[in-house]
Amino acid sequence: MENFNKEEISKLIRHRRSIYPAQYSGEIIKKEIIEEILENANWAPTHKLSEPWRFTVFSGEGLKKLGDFMSELYKQVATSRGVFEEKNYETLKNKPLLASHVIAIGMKRDEKERLPEIEEIEAVACAVQNMYLTASAFGIGCYWGSGGVTYFEEAKSFFGLGPKDKLLGFMYMGMPGGKWPNSKRKPIDDKVTWIE
Ligand SMILES: Cc1cc2nc3c(=O)[nH]c(=O)nc-3n(C[C@H](O)[C@H](O)[C@H](O)COP(=O)(O)O)c2cc1C
Repeated sequence: MENFNKEEISKLIRHRRSIYPAQYSGEIIKKEIIEEILENANWAPTHKLSEPWRFTVFSGEGLKKLGDFMSELYKQVATSRGVFEEKNYETLKNKPLLASHVIAIGMKRDEKERLPEIEEIEAVACAVQNMYLTASAFGIGCYWGSGGVTYFEEAKSFFGLGPKDKLLGFMYMGMPGGKWPNSKRKPIDDKVTWIE
């Protein structure tokens, strides 16, 4: 049995924060660190070892391609639904450019559907938490964004996802330009029932 430092692990879990692109300094994160973050994502729990997480990593010129894709798809779909807003278009186009990297988060459905879909979504969420924690340990700011084109059927193929797969959002990453933020939670006692 490995002897882990429990205090450090609790500290990391509670210190993990969502930090947003407007708060990034512009510094580019080293590729080796992104690889480490992805490697840790790969060790998430996974029922029947379906390993459903799929990631597309955007950096450099890729960030512009992502912003152009998301804004144009939003324009097309939102216009057809009569809900287009120029402000949203501009945000989708420009927000990726504030990040060092953006990782599209996908769920690849098990070919034989050996397990309920929700369990594959849950496994991906566990993988994202591994990313969040590893990023925090490196002092990297990141956040899971699920707005914009996340739930547009038409977005899936750009990220290599098929009709049965799901796009679950985007992990924006960058070095924080200011102070590490605080957050808050209501007491755990309000959310737990003990039966002893
Ligand atoms: C599945 C999921 C989707 C999220 N989507 C968004 C989002 O679209 N926009 C946003 O500002 N934050 C989003 N967040 C981040 C939460 O806002 C954030 O976790 C929350 O404010 C608590 O802050 P903390 O992560 O720093 O503790 C998302 C988080 C999760 C788990």
